[in-house]
Parts: sequence; C-alpha cells; structure tokens
Amino acid sequence: MKKNLIILFLITVSLNSFAQKFEGLAQTPPLGWNSWNTFSTNINEQLVKDVADKFVELGLKDAGYEYIVLDDGWMAKERDANGNLIADPVKFPNGMKALADYVHSKGLKFGLYNCAGSKTCGGYPGSRGYEYQDARLYASWDVDYLKYDWCNTDKLNAEGAYMTMRDALKAAGRPIVFSICEWGDNEPWKWAKDVGHLWRVTGDIINCWDCEVGHGSWSSWGVWKIINLRKDIRKASGPGHFNDFDMMEVGNGMTDAEDRSHFAMWSMLASPLIMGNDLRTATPETIKTLSNKEVIAVNQDKLGIQGFRFSNEFNVETWLKPLADGNWAITFVNMNDEPIDFEFDWTKHEIGDDVNGKFLDLKNNIYTIRDLFNHKNLGDTSKKLKTTIGVHDVLMIKLQKK
Ligand code: GLA
Repeated sequence: MKKNLIILFLITVSLNSFAQKFEGLAQTPPLGWNSWNTFSTNINEQLVKDVADKFVELGLKDAGYEYIVLDDGWMAKERDANGNLIADPVKFPNGMKALADYVHSKGLKFGLYNCAGSKTCGGYPGSRGYEYQDARLYASWDVDYLKYDWCNTDKLNAEGAYMTMRDALKAAGRPIVFSICEWGDNEPWKWAKDVGHLWRVTGDIINCWDCEVGHGSWSSWGVWKIINLRKDIRKASGPGHFNDFDMMEVGNGMTDAEDRSHFAMWSMLASPLIMGNDLRTATPETIKTLSNKEVIAVNQDKLGIQGFRFSNEFNVETWLKPLADGNWAITFVNMNDEPIDFEFDWTKHEIGDDVNGKFLDLKNNIYTIRDLFNHKNLGDTSKKLKTTIGVHDVLMIKLQKK
C-alpha cells in the first residue's frame, strides 16, 4: 500500500514537472473579436450578446471568426470571501457561465482576460498567487481562451510566470487557448513556443498608419511601426504558436484603403486576426474587408508561415508568404501619398524563402494570378503585372501553379 502511494506520488510529481500547454489548439492563427480597442473597460453582457449575434448576422462566423474575448474590466474590484474572482455584478448580472453559454449557443467560443501580476492593467484583481484557482474557475465557466497580461508583475520572471499559468490551465483540464501578452518585453518568441499558443510582440496598437504615441514609460504603435519592429522574428511562428501583432484597428478610423492594407498585412504575417471594432455600427466596407474569405485563407494557410518583406521600390512595400501546395501570396502596399502606376516583371525577380526552403520557380512554371480583394483573375506570370494602386491601398494576389 505504502509502495503504491509512493509510486502514485512520483507519477504525480513527474507529470507536474513535465506539464505542457494544450496541444492541438490554434493550428492556424485564432480568428475573433476583443473588446479592448473600442470599449476599454466599458463592457457589459448586452454588448457581448450583440457581438455574438453580429458574428452570425454579418457573415463573420461564416468567414471563420470564432472567439469573442472580453478584455480588462469584466471583474468586480475584489475577489469573494473564498478568493474566487467574480464578474462585475452590474455589468454582467447573469455571470460569466451564462454568457459563455450564450456565446456557445451561437456556435462560437468565449474568452476572458487576466494578468500575471497582482492587479490587471486596469486595477482589477490579477492572478498572481491564484493561478490554479483562477484556471479551475475559467474551466468551470467553459472558457475557451485566456489572454494573460503583464502589469503589476513586480519582480516576476516572465517565462516562469507564464509557465505557471500554462500548468494551471493544463491541470484544470479544459482546452483553453493561452494568449501571452507581455508586449514583447521579454522576447517570448525565444521561449513561448511550449508555453502559449500566441504571444504579443509589441506594446499596444493604435489606430494610425505609421505613428508612435508616447505615454511616458511606454508607447502605442501604428500599423507600420508594429510591422517594422517585428518583421524579423518570423521563424518563431508556426501551427500552434504564433507571433501576435495585436488586435486589429480595422474600422476604427483609418481610411478604407489603410484598413485593407492593415488586414492584408496581418494576414501575410500569420498574425491572429482579432477584430477590435464596434460590430454594431461597422460600415459595410469595414465588414467587407474583415470578412474577405480569400484574404483570410492566406492567414489561415495550414503551413502557418509568417510572410516577409521582399522589397520596397518606389515606396511600394512588397511582401511574400509561401502557402501550401506550392502557392504563394504576394502583397503590394502603396506607401505613397498619391496613387502609383505599378509594374512587376516576373522575369526580373528571384522569389524564395530561404528560412523555409520554399522557392517560386518562375522559369519553369506559369502561375495564375488571383486578385484577393477584387475577386478576379489577373492573367498569369507569363506577362508583366501592371496595375494602379491607390493611396495606402493594397494589391494582394495569390499565385497558383497552372
Ligand atoms: C494592456 C494590453 C492591452 C489591454 C490592456 C487592458 O495594455 O496590452 O491589450 O489588454 O492592457 O488593461
């Protein structure tokens, strides 16, 4: 008997020391919506229900969006007498389990936010010291996704703190996508592959093309600042573990052309596509961009390769992404403040991705060219590509072997 107990103890100890993240999740970048960019902490039950309804009504669910994630501000300011987190009773009068049930009833998935520190960035109770208890609570509410932030962490070590929450989620037994959010400060692309399914690579995004907005000790970053900061860590992304370029600002004040380019680039980068706008008031043009299935297919390509910059000629950014079956996505973004007549001569370029050993054999093969925003074919690579691209607009194409 005693011997059996000792064996059981040893098995438990060794299982714990080899705890792993839930495998098999986020094999392609997660698609969803998060409350933060538009609503900050002003969130409530009705908003989430409306968003879930809009996912279905606007065709977003059909386009592949799945997760509805509540960011900071969902909790009451104090834990209960047993140390459990409680949903803010005014904002969420029916609690989180009922809300998760509602989201699930639409065939969608439900996510929550917390933080590795003693308090969240918004000053709500953090998980430090409560990791296993909180993980069990999320599992009991049928949560599918946890975004885990990095405020008020004092002297915590990032890798260790995120491993603790990973182990807690694993021990709670429910498959939960683990979204690491420490802003790239501790280079998670070097250590987080076995810890989380996605990790933020910069500080917070802001709704501008290429600006930086300083807040004293930290900055918010426009779309191109984020891209340029983190274009070189592409090796770290792959099925089950993605660089997260932050929730999108599509529909939040840039021009429609800039929104298209932003969406195209997040797709090229294999970033999670997490909408951050108000779906209740979104314009048809915004929804058209967000629900573009041909662009989403590039993001969701099963190889999960983060695309890379090929060139910048005449201030047109050219980016490449190898896709499954020998296909390629190419994105041209006009960075100029006026439209540009643009030409691309296929005979003059060697196109290849050394990191992934993928090469576009333009000498021996002809590829058809599909325009992914205008949903039409543009001939093939036997002739020069000629087009006009509007201000900050994009031509995104898929090359397919004939
Ligand atoms: C940090 C994160 C944001 C958001 C807020 C919430 O700034 O990076 O994405 O979650 O906290 O307070």
